[in-house]
Amino acid sequence: MTEQTPPAYAGPARVLSGVQPTGALHLGNYLGALVKFTRMQHETETFIFVADMHAITQWQDPKLLTAQVREITAAYLAAGLDPKVATIFPQSAVPAHAELAWVFNCVARLGWLDRMTQFKDKAGKHKERESVGLYTYPVLQAADILLYKATQVPVGEDQKQHVELTRDIAQKFNHDFEAPGFFPLPEAMIAGPGARIMSLRDGSSKMSKSDPSDYSRINLTDDADAIAQKVKKARTDAEPLPETLDELKGRAEALNLLGIYAALDGRTSAEVLTEFAGQGFGAFKPKLADLAVAKLGPVGEAMRGFLADPAEIDSILTAGAERAREVAAPTLHQVKKIVGFWGD
Ligand code: TYM
Repeated sequence: MTEQTPPAYAGPARVLSGVQPTGALHLGNYLGALVKFTRMQHETETFIFVADMHAITQWQDPKLLTAQVREITAAYLAAGLDPKVATIFPQSAVPAHAELAWVFNCVARLGWLDRMTQFKDKAGKHKERESVGLYTYPVLQAADILLYKATQVPVGEDQKQHVELTRDIAQKFNHDFEAPGFFPLPEAMIAGPGARIMSLRDGSSKMSKSDPSDYSRINLTDDADAIAQKVKKARTDAEPLPETLDELKGRAEALNLLGIYAALDGRTSAEVLTEFAGQGFGAFKPKLADLAVAKLGPVGEAMRGFLADPAEIDSILTAGAERAREVAAPTLHQVKKIVGFWGD
């Protein structure tokens, strides 16, 4: 007997994503995530949150956490997210995330979580000293996404495995509880040269908030001088840029700077290469620095402007949380019924 394919999800398309308030945002967050949020809000109903519940899976100073939530919100607004178009909210203001995560903790398998590379990277050699929350982090992420029945998740490449796990959880929930098509199987929106921005000091490791060297990343709040200095000091090689991307194989730093240029300029790496083929980094870096200053300078400035009015940020977050709770409530209610929890 052939097994019948369960009916596909038939609800509307929705976008959801989030960023952890665990430190200053950098160029990787901007190109891998924020730029995409801003673009997608005009195409599809969009929910963008600040992942403060994820943040506390590793120690966060409570005195700083609220300020960092505001800072991420300011970055969203500065990047062009419009609170009249997209729903912007703090995760912890919507308790349904935690409630759905519990149900999903009972759907996801230990073996699935054991494969998560981000846990391995973050925990290092001493996983027994990490919080249980850090281990089940991807399950909470699945709840974030599926609570809003999101179909598209704009993220950088490092989040791909978590979105795949979300699909596995959705599929197993739909199957085990005989609720075909209840949850969508969301897709990670990763494509483009900004999907994986690497450290400016080492082309083999990702640009990251936690890298001890500030020269490894360009922060959204860096001023023009700092941006130019960091580009100037970025590691490169002595060869000129070739004509084709194929010839850049094995030149991780060169490939990274080219990708940054392309992502900032809204072009493909191949297109940028045709402009700079044959030129060395002495010529390329000043152009990249100018472009980065032109694109990021106004974002940093707008961020500082929004941060000067915390009451306005708070009112955006309060209104966003209310709307998010409204959308989340029916999903959680239906889940409780499907699972067989007590209540009406
Ligand atoms: P976080 O806070 O580490 O990063 C936020 C976003 O930035 C992207 N990103 C990068 N993109 C390109 N190059 C880089 N070097 C780079 N570094 C970071 C990340 O891929 C991400 O899109 N688990 C998530 C937060 C989260 C979430 C969610 C995202 C929680 N729940 C639900 C989507 C949907 C995280 O830690 O992102």
